[in-house]
Amino acid sequence: SGTHDFVVVSNRLPVDRVTEPDGTVAWRTSPGGLVTAMEPVVRDLGCVWVGWPGSIDEALDPFRIGETDLRPIALDAVEFAEYYEGFSNDTIWPLYHDVISPPGYHREWWDRYVSVNRRFAEASAKVAAKGATVWVHDYQLQLVPGMLREMRPDLVIAFFLHIPFPSNGLFGQLPWRKQVLNGLLGADVIGFQRVADAANFRSAVRRYVGNPSNGNMIMLPERPAAGGKRALPERRVLAQEFPISIDAQSFAELAQSDEVQERAREIRRELGNPDRIILGVDRLDYTKGIRHRLKAFSELLRDGDFGAGDVTLIQVASPSRERVEAYQQLRNEIEVTVSRINGDFGTIAHSPVTYLHRGFPRDEMAALYVAADVLAVTALRDGMNLVAKEYAACRTDEQGVLVLSEFAGAADELRRALLVNPHDIDGMKAAFTTALRMPEAEQRQRMRTMRRVVFRNNVARWSEAFLRAVETAAESRGELT
Ligand code: G6P
Repeated sequence: SGTHDFVVVSNRLPVDRVTEPDGTVAWRTSPGGLVTAMEPVVRDLGCVWVGWPGSIDEALDPFRIGETDLRPIALDAVEFAEYYEGFSNDTIWPLYHDVISPPGYHREWWDRYVSVNRRFAEASAKVAAKGATVWVHDYQLQLVPGMLREMRPDLVIAFFLHIPFPSNGLFGQLPWRKQVLNGLLGADVIGFQRVADAANFRSAVRRYVGNPSNGNMIMLPERPAAGGKRALPERRVLAQEFPISIDAQSFAELAQSDEVQERAREIRRELGNPDRIILGVDRLDYTKGIRHRLKAFSELLRDGDFGAGDVTLIQVASPSRERVEAYQQLRNEIEVTVSRINGDFGTIAHSPVTYLHRGFPRDEMAALYVAADVLAVTALRDGMNLVAKEYAACRTDEQGVLVLSEFAGAADELRRALLVNPHDIDGMKAAFTTALRMPEAEQRQRMRTMRRVVFRNNVARWSEAFLRAVETAAESRGELT
């Protein structure tokens, strides 16, 4: 308790409170890349983390995990439906992922987004010490920086967007585009995954708010001071790319452990020792291109280049946002397609697709990465995709092929993957064929380069670069005022 010099704010806390079927309560690591990346960053920092514990209507007391002081924000059923499922995940999520699914624009959802963002801002203001740094995360909380700045002008405010930021043509659809941009501009530094995301944002600010930028700096206008005093100096906001990453070393160590290596061999045995394993690991989300991947895979079997005993696809699809209609529809389509492939091409001994609709702990994931000859990341749009980086980190044997969508942020760094356009089914088939037949020497050469990138650009480097930019912004603000 008390106040802190460093505050992290995200919709989800790093742990998720789940009630098991038998009624017992357990804590699990929260789903998604945000927590994967931030967990090692905050572990030793000694900070406070404000967020939602993943359950509906439960007011929980603050608690600690290691050095982190967790401050749960409760959501009631209406807030869950309108702020989380509605505006966050049925408006902003599809809009920012290039309208792969049509976004819904509903004024009640927006109103609830505003009121829940205010609660997060108030809770953060309460735990932040004078002059503290508050680091706000992701698309669910875009208004928090602006609200915080109003409440607490003393704070240093940083924001990181984990998902893409769309081009003006799409962003302009949002009836509340100006409010969202002004909310974000409350921050001193706004971080994005890719160069293109930061550029899209600056361009949206120019067009819809009218603030010019100079390089990565957005210039906010002077505010007239009260009482005939000199106008307050212009504030500047840095909007720049900071591509996120993972703790590569810890994944590599886990992958190298005897338990994980043995489990990887066991996975192959359990599948009947297929020649080749392709692996897909995604939240069950329409942005991930799972349907396109299944289409390409089924055509490979149909064309007869590979038999059911030669190649197996393991698709891990962890449940996500299950009450949102677009997600229910996707689940149905995927499950029909998987059954159809297994019905058409399976034998008594082999089912070509092993489909697992649940999440797995990190050690099982590491074993799957070690067991898989090919990892297929075929997202139609993805901020970064840390699964791709986890695969490279875990391949300490320098084997394995990454098939990676050009539309994932990771493609900017992992140039030695087999890059694909997931809309081009023939191109994807060709990439899978190349991957499945790639000689060991070429695998090694490509994987070595990718591993070097992932180890160099690890998550510690990401957070250091981001926080250094925040510190610089804070210092230059000090000089201005
Ligand atoms: C992505 C988002 C995160 C989100 C995660 C899981 O990684 O960037 O902000 O937490 O997905 O989604 P969920 O809706 O379950 O929190």
